[in-house]
Amino acid sequence: MTKKEPIELTNSRYRLGYHVAAPSGWINDPNGFCYFDGYYHVFYQHYPYSAEWGPMHWGHARSKDLVHWESLPIALTPGDKEDEDGCFSGSAIEKDGVLYLFYTGHHYYGDGDKDHFWQNQNMAYSTDGIHFTKYENNPIIAKEPGDNTHHFRDPKVWEKDGVYYMILGSQGEDGLGRAIVYSSKDLLDWEYEGPISRANGLKTEGFMWECPDFFNLDGKDILLLSPQGIDAQGKDYLNLFQTGYFIGDYDYKTATFTRGEFHELDKGHDFYATQTTEAPDGRRIVIAWMDMWESLLPEQEDGWAGALTIPRELRLKNDHLYMTPVKELEDLRIKEVSNDSSVVAKELLVAEDASSSEVLIDIPLTGTNQEEVSFSLKTSNEELVLLTYSKATNEFILKRSDKDDLRYGTIQPCDKLSLRVFIDTSSIEIFINEGELVFTERFYTGEKTDVCVTVSEEETISYTVYQLDDNAVSYN
Ligand code: FRU
Repeated sequence: MTKKEPIELTNSRYRLGYHVAAPSGWINDPNGFCYFDGYYHVFYQHYPYSAEWGPMHWGHARSKDLVHWESLPIALTPGDKEDEDGCFSGSAIEKDGVLYLFYTGHHYYGDGDKDHFWQNQNMAYSTDGIHFTKYENNPIIAKEPGDNTHHFRDPKVWEKDGVYYMILGSQGEDGLGRAIVYSSKDLLDWEYEGPISRANGLKTEGFMWECPDFFNLDGKDILLLSPQGIDAQGKDYLNLFQTGYFIGDYDYKTATFTRGEFHELDKGHDFYATQTTEAPDGRRIVIAWMDMWESLLPEQEDGWAGALTIPRELRLKNDHLYMTPVKELEDLRIKEVSNDSSVVAKELLVAEDASSSEVLIDIPLTGTNQEEVSFSLKTSNEELVLLTYSKATNEFILKRSDKDDLRYGTIQPCDKLSLRVFIDTSSIEIFINEGELVFTERFYTGEKTDVCVTVSEEETISYTVYQLDDNAVSYN
């Protein structure tokens, strides 16, 4: 039998310089994000043989600093009895120097209907963090609990007070999305504790909760998840599926989570299926798929599709999750390209040829009649991304040249707008006012990109532009 070869890259025009992607082929969700034996590891849903979704493997990269990534061999390949049709999303945890991966085995009934499937939970382990062995006694959870439909996937495992917990994305028999929890003393035998939270309605909170993650942050418990089936409501929930969070309190004794409303974490078009890990210094770090099931993905023509966001730190402030680039990302800066703290202007070209840049812009809003501020990423003839802020409503509106639908977000009234923007060859991540509001977008152009700011009243604008390392991910 001839060995199947990964798809070849045919064009590097959209390849990213400092975002994790696959050497070639398809990726979606980040998986198994963890810190193990001196490295951060991130795995991802991967199909190496084409630039489309297919039987899911786990691709793998690791980094000492969350900035420079080294691509590693595929960690999990589907096709064994317990994961015949895919190794779906999951997580990683260390115990006694061994790295354990928990993942969903995907199985079709074989009648050709892609909606006719079942799922179980499996484990694989490694001592070197590179080579993984599937557990001999898989599956560790053979089937969904009695009150569940076939949607039963994406295990995230954590430890508390000597007990391991696993949260899973699920759909109850009533057709509503929910998160269910199992517990274990040894990571091998798992006991069902029950649903800890469920959708309050089909259109309001969805029919299936994908990729749940659960952690304590600044004294509150957070359920971060990607619900499917929430209806658009005004300017919210405009993507096909959403990623967001509930803030609440978890009672480990009764396995109940008392929580507030669902909030989106990022208001851009290209953000889904988050996963977090705790850094050795206690920070909660999140990474996501920097695309969505409805994303355009023109890079498929070039033999690849999809990437992960930059790692971001999560913090809880005023009942709201703030997301900022991890501080290590300052190490991406190769040189300061320009810096000015007192340009008086109405229209300003902040950066030229910004395809691997970090741009910081501060615009005061007090003491002027400023009504509107806009930020744009453009080529000589097109505004690829245009973000407009209105002082009267505190609202941002984001427009992309290749999509008809706008995205919206609001911030608290403020004296100054601070933008921190990460631009790569085909992605832009915009952090507003210390991560209060974030937009993540992909864009596709063969031309060089410039960054401009326009204000309705002449204003003193300050900015700094850094050129970033565009070779931060190595593929061997
Ligand atoms: C989310 C998701 C997960 C699943 C994986 C399959 O994007 O649908 O629920 O495990 O992708 O690739």
